[in-house]
Amino acid sequence: MDSDLLTKGFLDIPIDFSLDLFSEINKLKKEKNAIILAHYYQDADIQDIADYIGDSLGLSQEAARTDADIIVFAGVHFMAETAKILSPHKKVLLPDLNAGCSLADSCPADKFATFKKLHPDHLVISYINCTAELKTLTDIVCTSTNAVQIVESLPIDQKIIFAPDKNLGAYINKKTGRNMILWDGACMVHEIFSLEKITKLKNQHPNAKLLAHPECEANLLEIADYIGSTTGILKYSTQSPATEFIVATEAGIIHQMQKANPLKTFIPAPPNNSCACNDCPHMKLNTLEKLYNCLKYEQPEILLSEELIREAKKPIIRMLELSAQFGL
Ligand code: 13P
Ligand code: SF4
Repeated sequence: MDSDLLTKGFLDIPIDFSLDLFSEINKLKKEKNAIILAHYYQDADIQDIADYIGDSLGLSQEAARTDADIIVFAGVHFMAETAKILSPHKKVLLPDLNAGCSLADSCPADKFATFKKLHPDHLVISYINCTAELKTLTDIVCTSTNAVQIVESLPIDQKIIFAPDKNLGAYINKKTGRNMILWDGACMVHEIFSLEKITKLKNQHPNAKLLAHPECEANLLEIADYIGSTTGILKYSTQSPATEFIVATEAGIIHQMQKANPLKTFIPAPPNNSCACNDCPHMKLNTLEKLYNCLKYEQPEILLSEELIREAKKPIIRMLELSAQFGL
């Protein structure tokens, strides 16, 4: 395949618009023994064609266990990288290589290495939303599903640096009574919610439960009825007898919430700007068209050096082992 076609980070190849992309993608998946893993923040049509939809922990577990030859990762770069690290002999594709993450970008590995040297007696726990290079400087990776349990599994006097999300870190400190040193990073989507608008919305919908992801700021978490990962938020909304929910995370999750609970009402939490949406601009770079081209031409592919895979894998495996012990 002509590598010039990848200069934009995705295959900008025109698609015959009379094609039924759903059936074409399904055909290609069978022919190539490929699997599509999608995060809850993807567009609804991508979620609908995926073989597995999940949160960061579920997606890594699935990437480690699949026997497919090709993994098409409908998510962002650090997620596809994690899949490659866990399944290095498989071809891992990402529909748009530009699908980054503001949180991962907020913690460059070289700056973190200097910071880490200042605290030589500290263990490093990194949120999975970070680069493979940062993972090589990490002792244990975590996700929002297992972060509290991972921290609690360590001796109370263990000194810890937590990177890169200061909001998730502060939430864990509060839950566990620890005093982890926090890297000053944040997610652009979860920091943008307006406390004032959400408070007004709660007054207008007094029976609605406010569901928040722990990447949100502390003042929002304080008024939330439930705090958890995307999978946790989805489960809570299904199990709760409440019928109205204000959702303080990326709006893509509402597709699964609505599918599982057609009679319940889900209101996206309003952001602190004039836009009414809470879309992650990185996640939303993937489209069904890019996914189709990516599977058809098997590009763009995630390629990592053997050394990077070997070193970045250790803290991820530690996380998967601990999660299995916790029954997650
Ligand atoms: P989880 O799906 O693991 O809760 O993570 C949310 C997120 O921000 C992923 O980028
Ligand atoms: Fe990164 Fe936030 Fe987008 Fe998740 S929602 S990929 S943390 S920028």
